[in-house]
Amino acid sequence: MGVADEVRQRLDIVEVVSQYVQLQKAGRHFKARCPFHSEKTPSFIVSPERQTWHCFGACGTGGDVFSFLMKADKIEFPEALRRLADRAGVALAPPSPEETRAREDADRLYRVNEAAARYYHNLLLSSAPAEGARGYVHRRGLSPETVARFELGYSLDVWRGLQDHLLAAGFSREDTLAAGLCVARQDGGSYDLFRGRLLFPIRNDRGRVVGFGGRALDASNPKYLNTPQTPVFDKGSVLYGIDQATAAIRSADRAVIVEGYFDVLMAHQMGYGNVVASMGTALTERQVAVLRRFTRNLVLALDADAAGDEATLRAIVTVGQALGKATVPVPTSTGIRYQTTYRGDVRVASLPLGKDPDEVLLEGGEAWPSLVANGLSVIEYVFKATLEKLDLTQASGKQGAAEKLLPIIAELTDPVAEAHYLQRLARVVGVTEVTLRSALPRVRRSRQAGAGHVPALVPQRQRLEEFCLGLLLRYPGLRALGSQLAADDFQCTENREMFRLWQEGSDVARLQGDESMGAHIAEVVAQALPPATPKEIEADLAQVMRRLRERRLRALKLEEAAWESEDPEVNLEEVEARALPINTQLRQIFSQPPKGEAVGG
Ligand code: UTP
Ligand code: MN
Repeated sequence: MGVADEVRQRLDIVEVVSQYVQLQKAGRHFKARCPFHSEKTPSFIVSPERQTWHCFGACGTGGDVFSFLMKADKIEFPEALRRLADRAGVALAPPSPEETRAREDADRLYRVNEAAARYYHNLLLSSAPAEGARGYVHRRGLSPETVARFELGYSLDVWRGLQDHLLAAGFSREDTLAAGLCVARQDGGSYDLFRGRLLFPIRNDRGRVVGFGGRALDASNPKYLNTPQTPVFDKGSVLYGIDQATAAIRSADRAVIVEGYFDVLMAHQMGYGNVVASMGTALTERQVAVLRRFTRNLVLALDADAAGDEATLRAIVTVGQALGKATVPVPTSTGIRYQTTYRGDVRVASLPLGKDPDEVLLEGGEAWPSLVANGLSVIEYVFKATLEKLDLTQASGKQGAAEKLLPIIAELTDPVAEAHYLQRLARVVGVTEVTLRSALPRVRRSRQAGAGHVPALVPQRQRLEEFCLGLLLRYPGLRALGSQLAADDFQCTENREMFRLWQEGSDVARLQGDESMGAHIAEVVAQALPPATPKEIEADLAQVMRRLRERRLRALKLEEAAWESEDPEVNLEEVEARALPINTQLRQIFSQPPKGEAVGG
């Protein structure tokens, strides 16, 4: 049997097509409006029996799963074969023993997670102890269909519920530990991670269960508990709801990014299927990279609280980096200038203050489509966020507005848009549009002059960060002091992720075997620390913390300076950086050493 045959045998065409169009059952077939031409009545048919598709309308064509993908993704056969083989778990070249092992390991973890999801789901549906959870789900407005579609679950408030079930079902104790479902104890025993929680299975875009989020049903902490990092679960690259959202994202050619599980569930329940959640953490480039496979048009609908604004500005930067920027030539009266634009459309939906998407949707959801459609463009959002933070009755505020916003206007390629924003800025700062316009060439020149400068992309080894993490991992007694650090104090992403894991109370050292971070963690753990008394160790940590925070603030100041020089690469970060009263914070750091630090340090 050829490779293509093997792929065809293992994949269900219905499942593949479902990622592109919403199929409806019609007798022994499925039908939909044809994804390849626009039509009012469905003439696109998929036959599960023959594993074929056909458009009886304008296309008048059809084929198998490969031709479908080639047409849908506009790719050639070798590429379609590669993608589908990957999806089916069929190796094109004979796999190396390591590849086979890795795939088998991952598959075992998916299967144990899927068995757990079914177990939790059944408990939620019908067990007596889940009465409270069912009431909670009902109060939050979730329908039984939503509960079923997302396979929500409940974990009993006992130490060995899931574990006994999985062992009886033939899974090994090692698998339950490796999937992060159970936690090993010192004495060789183990217990269930999730107890007495409402559970949200988290799936990858292929629909495999990679982990869980669990919400407390009372005020206990943490409110949400997540699967720790495992070979198949990496919080920074999963998006909750992606498995249900791909078809809608493709057909809307737009994805909406929210923060929480409930936001996703309510949106889908209300019929807005193109919504996924970053699950509370700052949006990562890896998450955007997942979405980029389906669309380049993104709407950020993050919680409308103080943290939301900061998070949104940070997310804009991340999205820009992940979507990639293109530099395009623009003809002008005096020649050509080059401008940087996003390769995609990024918008920010403004939610009513203090409301999560989940609440807006629960009120009926009529407001949702316009919230999403009327999302502010990045320039509008930056205008708003910048102006809100300045005192425009003062000369300094007006000057600040011009300094920050002119370079952004200078980036615009459309003369109509340029005139529009110049007028707006002119009104704000109280000078004429002509005056502002006369400043544009200078702004653009300095921008272009900086264009040859390539910012350092490869960060230097972050010894200080790693020393700090080494201390935290080695000495549990440092938790109270170390908790004063913020994830943002770490600049290297791996270190930041390690710190987050430590914050969550994960056994970080245990993750040394992990694919994405293992080698790095091993290095940090293995680093030699000088022998010292507990007092000295605490003083060391305090010292390192002070330096980390100081360094972060200095970096912000540097970026602020870069803003002044109009380096095109840093503009949006600058807006964020300048919003911080950096000097005040720096002064504070120097005037009050954190507690525990030896005098003179
Ligand atoms: P929120 O605290 O805004 O939760 O965190 P929420 O979704 O609005 O939850 P409800 O409505 O109070 O029940 C947003 C998201 O951040 C992640 C979760 O994915 C959550 O949905 N989160 C939050 C965590 O992972 N851990 C936490 O402790 C808190
Ligand atoms: Mn929320």
